[in-house]
Amino acid sequence: MQQLGFKLLNDISWVKPNPPPNLSCRYFTHATETLIWAARDKKSRHTFNYKLMKETNRGKQMKSVWEIKPPEPWEKRFGKHPTQKPVALLERILLASSNQGDLVLDPFSGSGTTVVAALRTRRTAVALELSYEYLTLTVQRLSSELVRVALSLTTIQFSLDPVSDPVDRSCRGRLPRRAPLRSHLDHVSAKLQLVQQECRFHFIGRHNRAVIFSVLAPTLDDALQQFRSHGHSDSDALFIIKTETQIFLA
Ligand SMILES: C[S@@+](CC[C@H](N)C(=O)[O-])C[C@H]1O[C@@H](n2cnc3c(N)ncnc32)[C@H](O)[C@@H]1O
Repeated sequence: MQQLGFKLLNDISWVKPNPPPNLSCRYFTHATETLIWAARDKKSRHTFNYKLMKETNRGKQMKSVWEIKPPEPWEKRFGKHPTQKPVALLERILLASSNQGDLVLDPFSGSGTTVVAALRTRRTAVALELSYEYLTLTVQRLSSELVRVALSLTTIQFSLDPVSDPVDRSCRGRLPRRAPLRSHLDHVSAKLQLVQQECRFHFIGRHNRAVIFSVLAPTLDDALQQFRSHGHSDSDALFIIKTETQIFLA
């Protein structure tokens, strides 16, 4: 580092509690990776969010040995990269050494973990990656981060007994015996009764990317009117999701 003109600040050891086994059985299992933290030159001032790191470490100074689990299954749900890093590791790196709004560069971004961590910690990121496959994976990971929408099921009240007269429904004899599946389904769909139908619009906030307003309305124009009448301006919403629900009684 010194010869290259950089100023070495710390070397940090990332310790993996459950490292993958060493398949050759000729070396110790690799259970650590070294992070080099360096500044451009001797005179460079560097960012170190000392207080935040201390708070993160329950009031004790953060050490240069970090124990962080390898990527969890949810981090690989869109696909894997052979050397994918855990989001928690990149988040700690960014939180320690940069501030909100800073620009982060990852010239070898792989599955995009740095970009995901930058988004979560409100940094801006530029990433370079040779592989189209890993870029696609990065875009998928980012898209899923952008919208974390909790769509909850609306409680709907309706009568479970559309026929008021008591009828013995235990008898399935009305269906033709050994009917082919297609005609069986036709028979069933002809008997389905639409008991509930609704159209709902969810407004996703521009800033917090969550549902900021949700309303039952027959059209988008009606939903927008309601949105405005609740004190929102159109620019509060990044986008709007329309969901249509139909419930049939079999
Ligand atoms: C060690 S991996 C990065 C893994 C990443 N940290 C993650 O969490 O997924 C390095 C990546 O750099 C990419 N790469 C190698 N040479 C490159 C180059 N010249 N320009 C851009 N990307 C490159 C490889 O395709 C590989 O995906």
